[in-house]
Amino acid sequence: MKILKGNLVSAPALGKLEIVEHGCLVLHDDGSIQSVEKAVPQSADAEVIDYGDSLIMPSFVDMHLHAPQYPMLGMGMDLPLIDWLNTYTFPEESKYQDLEYAHRAYASFTEHLLRSTTTRAAVFATIHVPATLHLMELLENSGLRTYVGKVNMNRNCPVYLREISKNQAVRDTAAWLEAAQKFERTKPILTPRFIPSCTDDLMYALSGLRRQYDVPVQSHLSENFSEIAWVQELCPRSKCYGDAYRQFGLFGGDHRCIMAHCVHSGELEQEMMKENGVFIAHSPESNMNLSSGVAPVSKFLENGLKVGLATDVAGGSHESILRAMMHAIQASKLRWRLQDQSVPALSFERAFYLATAGGGEFFGKVGAFREGYEADAVVMDDSGLDHPQALSVRARLERLVYLADERCVREKYVAGERVL
Ligand code: GUN
Ligand code: FE
Repeated sequence: MKILKGNLVSAPALGKLEIVEHGCLVLHDDGSIQSVEKAVPQSADAEVIDYGDSLIMPSFVDMHLHAPQYPMLGMGMDLPLIDWLNTYTFPEESKYQDLEYAHRAYASFTEHLLRSTTTRAAVFATIHVPATLHLMELLENSGLRTYVGKVNMNRNCPVYLREISKNQAVRDTAAWLEAAQKFERTKPILTPRFIPSCTDDLMYALSGLRRQYDVPVQSHLSENFSEIAWVQELCPRSKCYGDAYRQFGLFGGDHRCIMAHCVHSGELEQEMMKENGVFIAHSPESNMNLSSGVAPVSKFLENGLKVGLATDVAGGSHESILRAMMHAIQASKLRWRLQDQSVPALSFERAFYLATAGGGEFFGKVGAFREGYEADAVVMDDSGLDHPQALSVRARLERLVYLADERCVREKYVAGERVL
């Protein structure tokens, strides 16, 4: 048994923060949480790790990011989605054909993710099988728990970054799924890039592979107006963009599914997501950088949808979910003020829930300090952010979201295992 002692902060339910000052997070040997206590239990024969006045919170879940775009961070923010993909993203992703480049770039990505506040992530790689398996190996060795997808794309993309045929794409994807079985912490997730980049026959074949290997799905949905119009042309029989994925059998229901962005998802699409248990990866900074818009996140929550936060590296300019929380709150305020007064701004408590338990649900019992949950935790030292007064834990937490960076990350646990 192990006990982590410090100022515990967790959001066990939407809109509710639970704070235990100088509390104890009691862990079972299997890495799950036994209990949250106000003091060290008398009878306990346990190793107590005392983090003093530091904050201990559930570490964050990044529901959507692109590992190969890590070298693009903070560059090429002048174009909307489709032009941005063609001008900056596809040329960068094509470099992962070269394993030596992939190694350098993915080692840097993994190291930065490890030093961040994140412990769980759903990651896009590229179409390249060797580089994708290498990324999975680096993530496996980091101790983080992730889903990683070899990307599928066989149309509407440059020849230098295109699967050469549907059959080759299926063979490569099956070979990758087989090879990925060896990992324990790093799981494969089927990843058709988005509908414009995959032919109908590839989508149906991927749905077959999904059933055969019982793997989840991730993709992009309703991010940008011209993208949505394009999908309607490509799939004229669909009632909405999400319905097109549904018709291909890649929109949840009998499997777990993450759709990134959903900036412009209307009532029908939201109903379909609810019915099929689809998770929304809300990426507010990316949606600003690519001029996509602001997703109605409070509306999603009111409608009972499953939502987590995402950085969308490199649409977003940083791998920090602290910043994603800040951007989610700020963007929702502008949306409320300028676009639609019927959808309220996102509260701090709700943003914290989305960053932890909201996305955590995709990974199982993850993201809250509750009995039986996996003990994912990050210890935050805010002593470098000095303040002339003593502050409450609640105030310190809010301040961390706006002011902290990875230098405040002291230690990190994933399912009870210390990884940093
Ligand atoms: N839609 C299809 N591909 C991408 C991508 O790489 N990033 C974002 N933000 N949207 C996409
Ligand atoms: Fe994305």
